[in-house]
Amino acid sequence: EMAPDEAAFQARIDEGIKIEPKDEMPDAYRKTLVRQISQHAHSEIVGQLPEGNWLTRAPTLERKLILLAKVQDEAGHGLYLYSAAETLGASRDDMQADLLSGKAKYSSIFNYPTLTWADIGAIGWLVDGAAIINQIPICRCSYGPYARAMVRVCKEESFHQRQGFDILHKLCTGTQEQKDMAQDALNRWWWPSVMMHGPRDADSVNTAQSMQWKIKLFTNDELRQKYIDQTVPQADFLGLTIPDPDLKWNEETGHYDFGEPDWDEFWNVLKGYGPCNQERLQARIDAHEGGAWVREAAAAHAEKRPRRREA
Ligand code: ACO
Repeated sequence: EMAPDEAAFQARIDEGIKIEPKDEMPDAYRKTLVRQISQHAHSEIVGQLPEGNWLTRAPTLERKLILLAKVQDEAGHGLYLYSAAETLGASRDDMQADLLSGKAKYSSIFNYPTLTWADIGAIGWLVDGAAIINQIPICRCSYGPYARAMVRVCKEESFHQRQGFDILHKLCTGTQEQKDMAQDALNRWWWPSVMMHGPRDADSVNTAQSMQWKIKLFTNDELRQKYIDQTVPQADFLGLTIPDPDLKWNEETGHYDFGEPDWDEFWNVLKGYGPCNQERLQARIDAHEGGAWVREAAAAHAEKRPRRREA
C-alpha cells in the first residue's frame, strides 16, 4: 500500500504532470533519477574515449572535423546531464569521485576497443542508433530537466548516427578490403550494442518501478526489439551480414526474432572486466589529475576577487 503522499505523487505522474526540481518527490524517485542520470552523464563522458582514439587518424580533413564535432557534442551531453542531476541535489564532485573510484556505472558499450576506422562508423551507426532509441522516449519522461535535456541531445545523436552510417556506406562501396573492414567492425560491435539496452526484462531490477514513475516509458526488451527492427534493414542496405544465425523476420509478429546475447560477458563488463574498463578509467583519472591546476587557479582567482574589491 502506498502512503497518501506517495499516492498523490503517483497521481500527478499518471496525469502526465512534469515533476520539477523544487516539487516534493519521494526519496526513492529522487535516488533513482540521480542513479540513472549520473550513469547516463558518465557514459557520455567516457564515450568520448573510444572515438577520441581516432581523431588524429581520421582519413580526411572533413572526416576529422565531423568526428571532432561529434566528440565535443558528447562532452556537452555529459555536462547537461550532470547539471540535470545537480537539480536533484547531487553534487558534481561526488559524482565525479564515484566515477573515478570505479564505483559508478557507465554504459558497458564504451569498454570495447576501436581497432580500425570502420569502428568509428560502427559506433555512430549502432551505438548512437541504440542511444537514440533509448533517449527519444526520455524526452517525455516525468522529470522536467531530464526530459528537456534529452530534446537537444537527441537532435545531436541523430547527426552522430548518420555520420557513422555514412562512414560505413563509403567503406561498403569501396574496395573489397574496405568492405571487409566494415563487416569486421559490425561483427565486433553488434552484440555489445544489443546488450547496451540492459539486461532482459526478467533480470532488470529497476524497470517496473521506473516505468511506474515514467522515468522509463519502455522496457529494455521493448527497446532492444525496436533497435533490431530498425537496424537490420540498414545492414541489408549496406550489404553487411549481422553476426546472428538466429536472426529472422517473423511474419506473424511483424518483428525480427534474434539470438541470445552472451549475458555472462555483459555482467563481466559491468563488474569491470571488459576489454578496456581499466584503460577508460585511467584516462578519466589522468584527465582529472591533469586538470588540477585549472581548478586550483580558478579557486585562487575566486578568493582574490572579493579581496581586491575591498582594497
Ligand atoms: N551498461 C552498464 N550498466 C548497465 C547497462 C549497460 N548497458 N544496462 C543496465 N545496466 C545496469 C543498470 O544501471 C543497473 O545497475 P544499478 O541498479 O546498479 O544502477 C543494472 O544494470 C540493472 O539494469 P536495469 O534494472 O535494467 O537498470 P535501468 O532500469 O536503469 O535500465 C538503462 C538501464 C536502460 C541503461 C537505463 O538506465 C537508461 O535508459 N539510462 C539512460 C540512457 C543511458 O544511460 N544511456 C547510456 C548510453 S547512451 C550514450 O551515452 C551514447
